[in-house]
Amino acid sequence: MVQTTVSLIKADVGSYVGHNRVHPDLIAKANESLQKAKDENLLIDFYVTNCGDDLELIMTHSKSIENPEIHKLAFDTFMECADIAKSLKLYGAGQDMLKTAFSGNIKGMGPGVCEIAFEERKSEPIICFMADKTEPGAWNLPLFRIFADPFSTAGLIIDTKLHEGFTFEVHDVIENKKIRFKCPAEMYDLLAFIGTPHRYCIKSITRNSDDEIAAVSSTDRLSLIAGKYVGKDDPAMIVRAQSGFPAVGEVLEPFALPFMVAGAMRGSHHFPMMPVGHKDAHPTRFDGPPRVIALGFQLNNGKLGKSVDCFDDPSFDRARQKCNEIADYIRKHGPFEPHRLPESEMEYTTLPQIMKKFEKRFEDIK
Ligand code: F6R
Ligand code: MG
Ligand code: MG
Repeated sequence: MVQTTVSLIKADVGSYVGHNRVHPDLIAKANESLQKAKDENLLIDFYVTNCGDDLELIMTHSKSIENPEIHKLAFDTFMECADIAKSLKLYGAGQDMLKTAFSGNIKGMGPGVCEIAFEERKSEPIICFMADKTEPGAWNLPLFRIFADPFSTAGLIIDTKLHEGFTFEVHDVIENKKIRFKCPAEMYDLLAFIGTPHRYCIKSITRNSDDEIAAVSSTDRLSLIAGKYVGKDDPAMIVRAQSGFPAVGEVLEPFALPFMVAGAMRGSHHFPMMPVGHKDAHPTRFDGPPRVIALGFQLNNGKLGKSVDCFDDPSFDRARQKCNEIADYIRKHGPFEPHRLPESEMEYTTLPQIMKKFEKRFEDIK
């Protein structure tokens, strides 16, 4: 059985101006590094891109997930790019490289990791989603709607191959535990958890009829690794589409709603998610609104072929317009919740340092 693996590994290793976008010199360096790996037959194919200030390495190979050679390639590439970022005095140069000595697996070192391995079908459409200025739990709402909500995905009702539903693996990123929910039977139980997206994140989804993998996401939380705020854990995910999985249009549909996510300014605010083509994936207003891009590939024995920039489409204009309206509205709340995140989620931001100053001034209320 020949398996194709898609590894989407990303990191913010420096950006300009401020946290806006990846410098072209970093993109060029990453392309050079991955081309070398392709020439040496480590990779089958690759695509380098960015979403805002995050450098995204999409790599295909036949070595399955968590392969040390592939992880080292990503790690070395990020380190080389971080060096260039430092030489250019880019903002946050080397930011996500929390650990600088590689020891076999890039997970837990800072970068976000999202990998999927499968036997390619007769035709294998996949969509790589990448977001900036938000957190891994931001995928919870769209993933639920794609794989469990019949009001969004018509195929759940009318396609026999989807009708048995999907199973969601959810990670508790605070307690480091995982649990699986089989939908539709356990749909309400699933929602009881994933409605708390900063803690419970959908990690992967499999099809009930044959346990085939359908989607994977990155769930890495920088602040939990570093113990302090170092930037948001801008997430990535890979979704398989068509012929027994939701159609491409069903996979994209949930993004027509600019749903509210944690992110934007100082990783401390709620702001609506804006689906954009790659040319618009650079959050400027209030370090937001958070952006999501979707690149579609038609895999051919591991070759990525031409990509489709799925949100570069006028049918998402209304979502973008609505997103701006919601941003105007919620911005007017200034430092008040629910624009600012609740206190419990501000633990890893810079706010606790401010509050500490006043600890001694609090008196008991008699
Ligand atoms: C968002 C993000 C930015 C920064 C903000 C302040 O994920 O990282 O919003 O938090 O630009 O950055 P500093 O504190 O580096 O000036
Ligand atoms: Mg940055
Ligand atoms: Mg980012």
